[in-house]
Amino acid sequence: PIESVDAREILDNRLEPTLRVTVETPAGSGRADVPCGRSRGEHEALDLRDGDDRYRGRGVRQAAANVTDRIAPELVGRDVTAQRTVDACLTDLDDADAPLGGNAVTGVSLAVCRAGAAATDLPLYRYVGGTDAHVLPLPFFDLIEGGELAGGDLPFQEHQVVPVGADSVAEAVRMTAEVYYELGDIVRAEYGEASLNVGAEGGYTPVGVDDPRTAFDLELRAIEECGYDDEFALAADVAASHFYDSETGTYALLGERLTRADLLDFYEDLAATYPLVSLEDPLDQDDFDGVAELTDRLDVQVVGDDLFVTTPDRLRRGIDRGAANALLWKVNQVGTLTDAVEAARLATRNGYAVQVSERSGQTPDTWLADLAVGLDAGQIKTGVTRGERTEQYNRLLEIEAELGDAATFGPPAADALDP
Ligand code: PGA
Ligand code: ZN
Repeated sequence: PIESVDAREILDNRLEPTLRVTVETPAGSGRADVPCGRSRGEHEALDLRDGDDRYRGRGVRQAAANVTDRIAPELVGRDVTAQRTVDACLTDLDDADAPLGGNAVTGVSLAVCRAGAAATDLPLYRYVGGTDAHVLPLPFFDLIEGGELAGGDLPFQEHQVVPVGADSVAEAVRMTAEVYYELGDIVRAEYGEASLNVGAEGGYTPVGVDDPRTAFDLELRAIEECGYDDEFALAADVAASHFYDSETGTYALLGERLTRADLLDFYEDLAATYPLVSLEDPLDQDDFDGVAELTDRLDVQVVGDDLFVTTPDRLRRGIDRGAANALLWKVNQVGTLTDAVEAARLATRNGYAVQVSERSGQTPDTWLADLAVGLDAGQIKTGVTRGERTEQYNRLLEIEAELGDAATFGPPAADALDP
């Protein structure tokens, strides 16, 4: 049974407060740090902040107090392995007039899961995924950053390289690191030293580059220099809501105001020119019909992040209309692990891929890597450099080594990612 639930205010990679929740049981304890996005979807769970003088209002003391004063008394004594019951209790306890905070809910839900794993003496991925958990995820690496996650002029948020030719995480990471070094040489030579400054997820920010196609060209050059021509594909998180103007219904891109139809044509052209395999949030976060049209028109993976916010309801809407064919999976967008897992199962049942994802704000806590394996997701995006990113890779490498011959690599429907 759960003995105690505690929460503290700690710091994330941006020197901003976040929650660390600890759950203790006689058989073992668990702890989880809560991530926080910057490029947040409008329909995400509430990120509760104090709004007072401390940390420019970003403190999480109220969220921590909600854990210790309101949540803990309800959970103490409960079975730590009854994740679904615990999460239902969190949902019941939440009150629109006095919200617990999605950050408090996510922290408790994940810490309970970790404590359950410790109490049953299982690694987290196996506790979540059962004895059959064996799929290591194919990583999407955000080598060049733009949008809200970087300074600079690139409108798209992430220009990713995908090592589709790798056959393990170890190989994927090594090949991508080599491309990353090579790309560093190229952007330094062409755009100056300042281009090596990295964005929120540790990708480069080439100075003066304002066209996503230039970013892709640079990545392709680095890939070719390394001799990996056929081993890599490209992908993007467009995060289009950030350059969408709801007044005029247009997108501000490359100095022009594009209508939805123009933007869809732009993507079609992009997919015809580049080995593009995946596009995330290509249109405004509420444009289900537009995303459905794009999904129909292009033979690429279309990922819903801000579109679905890991919420079963919004995902169901997407499935009904044929909008997107993949779910970006971020626990703290929805709140409890149970709801997030339900969204992943719903996706899988309907032929949607699942891409497990970090947030731009997080700590080196590695629950994400374990959950990616536990869910059999087959895809992960967790940035590039900086400790809170590389720790995820380090944990995946550890799991891959632990599973040995039992491990398989990449998404179940890998052919969907064939450039
Ligand atoms: P976020 O950005 O973590 O700031 O939300 C990542 C993304 O949009 O995928
Ligand atoms: Zn996104």
